[in-house]
Amino acid sequence: MSTANSVSEKVITTHVLSEMKARGEKISMLTAYDYSMAKILDSAGIDVILVGDSASNVMAGNITTLPITLDQMIYHASSVQKAVNRSLIVVDLPFGTYQGDSREALHSAIRIMKETGCGAVKMEGGEEIADSIKNIISAGIPVMGHLGLTPQSINKFGTYAVRAKEEAEAKKLISDAHKLEEAGCFAIVIEKVPATLAGQIAKEVKIPIIGIGAGGYVDGQVLVLHDMLGINKEFSPRFLRRYADLFTTISDATKHYISDVKSGDFPNENEQY
Ligand code: KIV
Repeated sequence: MSTANSVSEKVITTHVLSEMKARGEKISMLTAYDYSMAKILDSAGIDVILVGDSASNVMAGNITTLPITLDQMIYHASSVQKAVNRSLIVVDLPFGTYQGDSREALHSAIRIMKETGCGAVKMEGGEEIADSIKNIISAGIPVMGHLGLTPQSINKFGTYAVRAKEEAEAKKLISDAHKLEEAGCFAIVIEKVPATLAGQIAKEVKIPIIGIGAGGYVDGQVLVLHDMLGINKEFSPRFLRRYADLFTTISDATKHYISDVKSGDFPNENEQY
């Protein structure tokens, strides 16, 4: 049992997550894309680390998640895996590596598992990718689903606004959540939908529902690390709580360093050989 000051030694598996849902313990999840950050999150006791394709935005500076490649995701995921002892690591299958056909989806998922040593993959979409999900799961690879606002489909949506406010889309979302559960997903991320709808889905399905901008009635929460640490200050949706202002902290430290170098204060007698 972990408390605010102690981290449980128990390694987190998909089975542990389902036990957490069964006993009403909320699941914590954050993104990470590199060794150093992953080490901090793992030792702090985060349950799930997502090597998200948001790496395309926060690490590579792209406007969308679409450009990131499978090779780039594998690079990020293997760096994260080397740092982690306890958390379950889930890796996003990037855009264009699973939507077409279920053999290609399986091939992409196998590459991630073989080349990174991580524990599961995440895929965006509902009924339309259920066959690919089944194919991947039958190869022994755990799959996390992702519904609601699915950023890989931004060109179809045209906006990052809240999804499933209308009845037809809400019905499709509920039906997709059941389809993903039937297909064998061990959990589903639901992004940016009304809180009551996400809460209803969390009640209806047995697998954990992890929300982002989906309110507090779900089984866990995920945020993008750079957003919650205040490294990336350009993105401030209503659902985002900032736990630090690292942009300012790092900027101030950098300015201090520049000033010390320019003035000759750094290095001093004790900082040289
Ligand atoms: O890529 C990502 O960071 C994600 C989260 C927003 C859930 O998919």
